Amino acid sequence: MTAVVALEDVSYCFPTSSQPALADVSLRIDAGRRIVVLGRNGAGKSTLLLIMAGLLRPQRGRLYLGATPVAYSRQGLRRLRQTVGLVMQSPDEQLFSASVWQDISFGPLNLGLSDAEARQAVTEAAAMCDVTDLLDRPTHALSSGQKARVALAGVLAMRPRCILVDETTSGLDAWARQQVMQVFDRLVAQGGTVVLATHDLALARRWADLVVVLHEGRVMTVAPPAQVWADPELRMLIAPSEFWYGDE
Ligand SMILES: Nc1ncnc2c1ncn2[C@@H]1O[C@H](COP(=O)(O)OP(=O)(O)OP(=O)(O)O)[C@@H](O)[C@H]1O
Ligand SMILES: [Mg+2]
Repeated sequence: MTAVVALEDVSYCFPTSSQPALADVSLRIDAGRRIVVLGRNGAGKSTLLLIMAGLLRPQRGRLYLGATPVAYSRQGLRRLRQTVGLVMQSPDEQLFSASVWQDISFGPLNLGLSDAEARQAVTEAAAMCDVTDLLDRPTHALSSGQKARVALAGVLAMRPRCILVDETTSGLDAWARQQVMQVFDRLVAQGGTVVLATHDLALARRWADLVVVLHEGRVMTVAPPAQVWADPELRMLIAPSEFWYGDE
């Protein structure tokens, strides 16, 4: 089976930084997976997702879409965006249109869907994220949890096979979080893949089938949660011992 996306020896260092944010990262993301990325603040989780979404370009190594190296041309990036969607850590970085409707329809229209197809995609994605009642509202006048759901709807409207979610669930109330997790589960049931960067250890333990542990820009392991939870050295890299509730 070919990966949906894969990184091969990827390194990335921000121009203003002396330390690489990602160093020699190799990772394959297969279809139908529930992947959680864990690691402390600054470990490189957001950088990893930005690289996978094509918003940052590796300085060394390669990003693959299927078996093909991603070309950082308009066309190459467009192909990547049809497959991989990123919900950013801060919805304010993602939302830029005047109204919620415009924001959610931007992606589908940009991918070349007709007005009718885009309307259908917006309606479906808005319903999935429970933002139908907000469609006529200006995006700047929403609560942060509402913004997060609108940002997610904007990504889902492009119907990506792989969705990257950066901490978006953390500002949601429990109902919204449950609903969003159900959306993710549905995507996975249809053969899609969800990659979720989070600090929520209980969620990782319960939901992930694979956990990627990042530390100082390096992948320390890719393993099922039970294996990570059973490894005191890996746990130390993520959180103090009293945070490991849900242990077995
Ligand atoms: N725009 C930027 N300019 C310079 N350095 C950056 C920038 N964004 C991130 N970094 C640095 O890159 C490293 C990785 O950051 P990244 O945002 O990927 O971490 P993270 O794991 O997502 O952290 P958090 O849990 O706080 O979201 C950090 O050392 C950070 O300071
Ligand atoms: Mg981050």
